[in-house]
Amino acid sequence: MNKQKYQWPEYTVGVCYYPEHWDESLWESDLDRMLAAGIHVVRIAEFAWNLTEPEEGVFRFDFFDRFLDLCAEKGMKVIFGTPTATPPAWLTKKYPEVLNADQNGLPYEHGARRHYNYNSPIYREKARIIVTVLAEHYGKHPAIAGWQIDNEMNCETCEFHSEADQEAFRVFLRETYGSLDALNRAWGTAFWNQTYTAWEELRLPGHVLNDGWNPHQRLDYLRFVSASARSFCKLQSDILHRYKKPGDFITTNALFWHIDNPKMFEESLDLFGYDSYPNFAFGLNREEVLKDQGYGVEGDLNDRLSGKSLSEVRGICPHFAILEQQSGAGGWVSRMEGPQPRPGQIRLWAMQSVAHGADFVSFFRWRTCSFGTEMYWHGILDYDGRDNRRLREVAAFASDLKKLAPLCGSEYAAPLAIVKDYDNACDAEVDVWHGRLSFPDDSAIYQQAQLSHVPCDYLHLADDSALEDLRRYPVLIYPHPAIMTGARADLLKAYVEQGGTLILGCRTGYKQENGRAILLPPPGLLRELTGSTVRESGFWHPAEPTVTVEWNGERFEAPLFQDQLEAEGDAAVLARYDSSWFAGTPALIEHRLGAGRCLHWGSTFSRPLLKELFAYLGLTGRFDELLDLPEAVEIAERRKDGRRFLMLLNYLPEAQEILLHREMRDMLEDRPVSGKISMPPFGVLVLEA
Ligand code: GAL
Repeated sequence: MNKQKYQWPEYTVGVCYYPEHWDESLWESDLDRMLAAGIHVVRIAEFAWNLTEPEEGVFRFDFFDRFLDLCAEKGMKVIFGTPTATPPAWLTKKYPEVLNADQNGLPYEHGARRHYNYNSPIYREKARIIVTVLAEHYGKHPAIAGWQIDNEMNCETCEFHSEADQEAFRVFLRETYGSLDALNRAWGTAFWNQTYTAWEELRLPGHVLNDGWNPHQRLDYLRFVSASARSFCKLQSDILHRYKKPGDFITTNALFWHIDNPKMFEESLDLFGYDSYPNFAFGLNREEVLKDQGYGVEGDLNDRLSGKSLSEVRGICPHFAILEQQSGAGGWVSRMEGPQPRPGQIRLWAMQSVAHGADFVSFFRWRTCSFGTEMYWHGILDYDGRDNRRLREVAAFASDLKKLAPLCGSEYAAPLAIVKDYDNACDAEVDVWHGRLSFPDDSAIYQQAQLSHVPCDYLHLADDSALEDLRRYPVLIYPHPAIMTGARADLLKAYVEQGGTLILGCRTGYKQENGRAILLPPPGLLRELTGSTVRESGFWHPAEPTVTVEWNGERFEAPLFQDQLEAEGDAAVLARYDSSWFAGTPALIEHRLGAGRCLHWGSTFSRPLLKELFAYLGLTGRFDELLDLPEAVEIAERRKDGRRFLMLLNYLPEAQEILLHREMRDMLEDRPVSGKISMPPFGVLVLEA
């Protein structure tokens, strides 16, 4: 299925600009210098509500009129942001119910950002008015190329506990369940005497003792947060659609927690946007940041691991936009102290975005702000605005992109996809027995695929996913889908029957959609597909050595959790546990079904095991005929009109040796190359095979 709704005609470079932060006398020279550096789009206005509505119901347009007219005159295109991430002080003062609150119900104060809630009727009305006013006034302006809704929805916080949310949660539950009986059943309220007898008794899972929330309630809460954010986005996109010029796009900078992003894209956006800050991998508070980013503790790919999020974005919208691309050291005054990008890294990271599917890259930001919380979030230029090496690097990237014009609109070629779905993503957060397995494995699989040079996509599964979406991949890995629905089980079975290979890990299929365990032997609805069942399961005992498995004469770790498997029918046991009290029990079962096969692995996925699995399934060695390259270099293959392009990225500060087995064209140097090539530190090589 082609999920692309908007596509840039050519690779385009942009920059985030805040005209309200600078003296107007700088605008013209700033725009001229941007154009000279190959920057043709500015992204503006996403935090500037007051400039248009300084007082309730009083609107002025002179500021952005002047700026947009200047852009039009210069031939600079503009992405205009709706300002709802930062409500004005007059608004939060007069209508405090628009504020979000923490888990204890304590409202956030005016002053930072994203302190509003999505459900307050007043905020929705005020947002409707400002977006309408802006869209009506600027919608047809020739400088505008597209619209950004809000800014990073669910960044800063993805938890909502205001009174408006309490109210809206009850409405959501009524719509979902229809009756209290159905809700009580779904939530298992017989446990700990939680039975609800009136809708008014229902509350968001908030301040409870010992984190002892009802897990089914919390699962619904995460679905509710997603529905709230998506409906706020849709409210704005419906307005923008009405007023924008044909051909202009609607986007948002996304991929935050507690939002079903593929659904938001489908409902409201033409183009998916992402903000790429690979330096998060190197902050001085690295561990904390890595955990925040969901990287798990094994973040040893550092900035290369940013490709994981880029791949998730590609699974939503194959040709996406980078609305903020890191161009300097990151840091807030109050937290985060990031290192400076080394010479070459800005270009490398921007190329990483392009390799993964961005055909628009907008750097954050033109000039570092000289005041406020983010005065250390460095832009291209420093406070003084002088030309510098970062600007030269951005300009070099823009000129590189011209040479890569034939790649624009090309497709990322991947034989493997990691399957994800919103229900299980939420369940992994609610249920530590699930998250403990899923979060590290999600990273481990991507990391090993990177190191084994197995290009890998993400496939976002929903009940209405099409079989063709799955069939694009010879191999799918769905690591720990605890929740399984009938529709998804049928789809997976059809995929295998038609020739696909599906890998499943431990804890597959033991829950229903509401998070309650099913009363069938695991993997429940998938049993016919896996040709296996689980006799017993449990966490590894910390007093014992790590459990191991013997496969083809080699030993592999089966860390953390083990399902003791049993083969059924004609399924074959490939490997058995060879330690602990269940030594000899099957650990890996292969079941051939129709034209394909399913591999059921009883544990979590260690990297050595993944490496072996990739080799067993014939996923490795994909580029052997063309070249030899070290693990340290990423390779992305992009295809278009029968042409094959290889983008090679060196993330290390040391040169890397590549050996080409035949002559290819170096697209950046525009010359044929063969034999040994040395890639410089942080270097990029683009070859046409
Ligand atoms: C992004 C955000 C920007 C800016 C940047 C640096 O998350 O969208 O507005 O804050 O990070 O912190």
